[in-house]
Amino acid sequence: MAETTEVQRGLEDVVALESRICFIDGKQGRLLYQGYDIRDLAKGATFEEVAYLLWYGRLPNAAQLAELRVRLAGLRTLPAPFAERLAAFPVSAHPMDVLRCAVSELALFEPDETRPGPSSIGGAQRLAAVIPTIVGTFHRRRMGRAPPDPRPDLSAAGYLLYALLDREPTELESRCLDVALILHADHELNASTFAARVTASTLSDLYSAITSAVGTLKGPLHGGANERVMELLAAIGSPDRAEAAVKERLAKHERIMGFGHRVYKVEDPRATILRDWSRRMGETKGDLHYFEILRAVEEVVHREKGLYPNVDLYSGSVYTLMGFPPDLFTPIFAASRVAGWTAHVLEEYDDLRLIRPTAKYVGAVDLAYTPIGGRP
Ligand code: ACO
Repeated sequence: MAETTEVQRGLEDVVALESRICFIDGKQGRLLYQGYDIRDLAKGATFEEVAYLLWYGRLPNAAQLAELRVRLAGLRTLPAPFAERLAAFPVSAHPMDVLRCAVSELALFEPDETRPGPSSIGGAQRLAAVIPTIVGTFHRRRMGRAPPDPRPDLSAAGYLLYALLDREPTELESRCLDVALILHADHELNASTFAARVTASTLSDLYSAITSAVGTLKGPLHGGANERVMELLAAIGSPDRAEAAVKERLAKHERIMGFGHRVYKVEDPRATILRDWSRRMGETKGDLHYFEILRAVEEVVHREKGLYPNVDLYSGSVYTLMGFPPDLFTPIFAASRVAGWTAHVLEEYDDLRLIRPTAKYVGAVDLAYTPIGGRP
């Protein structure tokens, strides 16, 4: 068999396409959305502003932002027949599985949104608005509570907290969640965004692309890591046990969730900001327990493996202090990343070429076919 080329396992360092949406400098630890530094956005912007930036390629003025906020708030309600279907999903299911199925099913009730092309911006905004309602409706049902009201008075972050937890967010919680949503909104060709773009590149529709993305985000090597970090913290229990617990896991060649990254060779700038919020939320709630264990874990992992934290390390501690159960962490991630996924799908439709790499064949050749009756 003719040798083709060197295999880049995991497509590491392969430049698959051109994009204007997101830039990562993995050596300097910088992240830009449409040219704007994530640190400035996390200080001054809101999630709605960032979503506008990702979708339209520029920051909104006050009127444009106000219009987007009203539009998103108006898109929070589920179609009645879809709500009935959602009410039949088993309460034992993982919320990410519910979200994956729900995005796919919603498409059946919104056929106009499934035409691929520039009009998909409507579907992008619909999905960004409705994901908190889907996850909130499911979580509230398993807690024996009524579905959320659309609450047009609440920002995207405030509504996410209200929809999921059935209570009013404090100002600090709203801002903290807003920052978390900003930090998770996009990240270049991460696995779930790539999955979305691959699906879109076949000229399939936006809802199919986002279904692919949700399923990809779920994995513990990607967005599912934040849930696993809390399992690790629970197992460690206290900062003084971090050293032994981490070393024991590393000796067994286990991965420590929330550390390492394909692109960053230094600290992930999102982790730096979330670490600060983890401390701030801990101080406000009078509970620095998780923050202190995480600091201790960080110190050992860096010393032993030279690894830095990624975005998933501190997010869970912040969400836990607000009262979110661990299985809602990745759906919260999805509620933010949907802005980036959909921006990338729109960009894909705008400059479409089927994404279809090749494989180096390493299997057998020229085997002689034996009819079924002649096989041992
Ligand atoms: N814990 C322990 N060792 C690790 C970790 C980790 N978290 N991450 C990487 N390593 C080690 C690997 O064992 C490997 O060591 P070796 O060369 O001795 O075998 C080396 O570092 C390189 O690891 P790869 O898996 O080849 O690196 P890759 O770029 O493929 O992995 C990944 C990136 C998947 C994120 C990895 O760092 C990991 O598994 N981290 C834990 C899961 C996690 O936190 N995922 C969230 C990432 S951020 C996001 O997706 C939102």
